[in-house]
Amino acid sequence: MKYQSQAVAKPYFIAAIGLFVGQILFGLILGMQYVWGDFMFPEIPFNVARMVHTNLLIVWLLFGFMGAAYYLVPEEAERELQSPFLAWALFWIFLIAGALTVLGYLLVPYAQLADITMNDLLPTMGREFLEQPTITKVGIVIVALGFLYNIGVTILAGRKTVVSLVLLTGLVGLAVFFLFAFYNPTNVVDDKYYWWWVVHLWVEGVWELIMGAILAYVLIKVTGVDREVIEKWLYVIIAMTLITGIIGTGHHYYWIGTPDYWQWWGSIFSAMEPIPFFMMTVFAFNMVNRRRREHPNKATVLWALGTAVMAFLGAGVWGFLHTLAPINYYTHGSQVTAAHGHMAFYGAYVMIVLTIISYAMPILRGQEASDPRSQVLEMWSFWLMTVSMVFITLFLTGAGVLQVWLQRYTEDPQPFMVVQEKIEMFYWLRELAGAVFLIGLIVYVISFFVKGGERVTIGSSDTA
Ligand code: HEM
Ligand code: HEM
Ligand SMILES: [Fe+2]
Repeated sequence: MKYQSQAVAKPYFIAAIGLFVGQILFGLILGMQYVWGDFMFPEIPFNVARMVHTNLLIVWLLFGFMGAAYYLVPEEAERELQSPFLAWALFWIFLIAGALTVLGYLLVPYAQLADITMNDLLPTMGREFLEQPTITKVGIVIVALGFLYNIGVTILAGRKTVVSLVLLTGLVGLAVFFLFAFYNPTNVVDDKYYWWWVVHLWVEGVWELIMGAILAYVLIKVTGVDREVIEKWLYVIIAMTLITGIIGTGHHYYWIGTPDYWQWWGSIFSAMEPIPFFMMTVFAFNMVNRRRREHPNKATVLWALGTAVMAFLGAGVWGFLHTLAPINYYTHGSQVTAAHGHMAFYGAYVMIVLTIISYAMPILRGQEASDPRSQVLEMWSFWLMTVSMVFITLFLTGAGVLQVWLQRYTEDPQPFMVVQEKIEMFYWLRELAGAVFLIGLIVYVISFFVKGGERVTIGSSDTA
């Protein structure tokens, strides 16, 4: 560690991994409820488990992004973090608020939770991903402002690099778009319209900048390739992200009561959204091939290449699959959507957070890279989780194609539940793949506690 204050990243990473485990456990509960409707009912109804699963996902990714920023910004800015104390304080506020919110979901009926938290004063609850009580949302804004102050001052008062400025732009965007979570018009069209300003403009806009910046940082470190080369890539990637992603929001405006022209704008621009993801893949492989050093942390290189490939598959390929209006007309809100949602979130954001954790955690624990045996386990967990996510995606895609066919496309469409029963096999298989995912995650956690093994160095040593 070059700067003492980078140490605050560690609790953020640990919390992220802890919440990740929780998210997956709820995923398995949900998957089970798909095939066995009464599973854990009435203790944990489907809608509650779903809310916990998706909210934990978002919250642990945010912990991961904040940890990443606290870790890399001091090094990029070449100075200590403005206020490590503030970072610690916000860590506890965020963790406690998050835990209380999840407990609220689990212990109190949702409507009562709305009452208790005085949703009436400023109603914001009840929308997918934004289910948090208003008071939690206010907490999130406070944490975000404190965080941005801390990171922003550190960057602006120190060395400014393309990596840290792109990261900062992404983080500011993340906070700004979250503000639309407070805008809750009664008109359903308006409501959906602006809801996507949070959901879409996050994952297909500002979060992509965060991903690009973290990936660029890690690649600089593990490959030793000149910063200038990596920065040029980053510029083009983020430009393409914003050019395609902003108007690409239109792919959510096909059937919600917005003007017809969105079918053209949404289709054309979102069809180009895979480009920046593809560029990230080419970028990552290119940099690793041109590497000027052999970094001892092989696991990080694997994660970095993995996220570049999986983000392209999940977001780029599975996104493109249903993004054109004439196709989306049939696939909208089906299991095809869920297949894409899983692989895109995993490939882009889960894996980029695991990439920076893989790189930073050993250093935060006083080693350049973890012991070889630990890295072997970490790479096992990479393959177990990644391959099972590929299978989850394929099974959901199979379910989705059949669902769309039987329920919407044939001459003689059948009712929702009749079709669900016919595609039950896919849901069993998804659950099985989910169980393997959990095993992969357990191996991942264990890898942090394993020591020893022989280090094998391949090729030339450090030239960077
Ligand atoms: C990492 C980036 C991405 C993530 C995390 C992501 C995630 C998601 C999620 C979770 C949904 C479901 C939202 C809901 O209705 O609840 C969704 C919907 C959708 N995504 Fe993505 N996505 C990403 C990138 C893309 C890209 C690049 C495209 C197009 C090429 C795309 C096309 C779509 C479309 C068309 C829908 C609407 C599906 C429907 O009509 O039901 N996504 N995405
Ligand atoms: C890191 C891994 C995972 C990520 C990133 C993830 C992400 C998500 C997202 C974004 C949604 C909302 C999807 C949408 O609205 O289209 C969702 C819902 C869901 N997830 Fe996951 N998930 C993961 C792992 C799992 C696992 C292992 C299982 C179970 C085997 C699972 C089961 C489900 C189920 C059943 C739903 C509800 C789908 C519905 O409403 O029909 N997830 N997950
Ligand atoms: Fe989108």
